Amino acid sequence: MSSYVISGVSRGLGFEFVRQLSVDPANKVFGLVRNKAAVDAKVASEIGRSNIYIIQADTTDPDALKAAAQQVSAKTGGTLDYIIANAALQAKTALVGFETLAKDPKALEEDLIEHFKVNTIGPIHLFNAFMPLILKGKAKKVIAISTGASDPEMTLKPDMYQATGYSITKAALNMAVAKFSASYREKGVLFMAICPGAVDTGSLQIATEEEGALAMALFGKFKAYSPTFEGPTPVDAAAKSVLALVNKATVDGGYAGVFISHTEKKPYL
Ligand SMILES: NC(=O)c1ccc[n+]([C@@H]2O[C@H](COP(=O)([O-])OP(=O)(O)OC[C@H]3O[C@@H](n4cnc5c(N)ncnc54)[C@H](OP(=O)(O)O)[C@@H]3O)[C@@H](O)[C@H]2O)c1
Repeated sequence: MSSYVISGVSRGLGFEFVRQLSVDPANKVFGLVRNKAAVDAKVASEIGRSNIYIIQADTTDPDALKAAAQQVSAKTGGTLDYIIANAALQAKTALVGFETLAKDPKALEEDLIEHFKVNTIGPIHLFNAFMPLILKGKAKKVIAISTGASDPEMTLKPDMYQATGYSITKAALNMAVAKFSASYREKGVLFMAICPGAVDTGSLQIATEEEGALAMALFGKFKAYSPTFEGPTPVDAAAKSVLALVNKATVDGGYAGVFISHTEKKPYL
């Protein structure tokens, strides 16, 4: 039996992690969301398992995360095996670069701060809130879902000027993971950041012709970075691959504090 806390499970990879990890009825799977009623209804209709617990907690709110940790603790007897920091912001500003964003410096700043709050500071609050439980858990594994876009190589090779706030704040997340590892490795806690590859979650929700053209330009950068890239992976296969690496990785196996692809190889796509 293992216990898991996963942030951002309303859709996409987060929802799929919940689906796959709850298959074992001995597991307890806790999903953190911003709209509990909606996700409770979705889980009931699409998964329907009694070992899934949906908890209201915006990951940018440390008090909500502390309250969530108390709820989890009450159900697990004060322990937790795994955290998966999955919640993230990838705003439509990802479709353009600094050249375009520079036209409105105030909006540029707000966009960066919002990405930083959700993608970097949120996971830091999440880890801190649940650390007392993790230290009492068996597995002691803390995972951040990052992205290949955080590696300067993926920007420099194809001149990928897009996804500014997203790439910058995920790179900062990777460093936060390294710092947490530096604090907790000797206590046996594995911290690592994993890129799941490009996943078919429709997270950018392209709505207009103009956005479609910008998305195609971004796709072109992915192709220039990795000529064999044909498109995103189905969400079930991506989640399975990430979880296989989570199971395999150990503190002593060279994984402490690292950022790597779910395939453990480059390119990320
Ligand atoms: N999809 C890809 O191709 C890809 C590639 C590389 C890395 N990743 C990473 O993989 C992870 C999952 O991606 P995805 O495509 O499944 O994302 P997604 O479909 O955009 O879903 C993001 C999730 O995060 C939640 N969230 C956002 N802000 C939150 C907050 N402040 N508090 C709590 N939850 C919050 C959203 O909840 P709401 O419903 O409340 O908005 C949603 O459940 C992310 O970390 C992403 O960066 C994805």
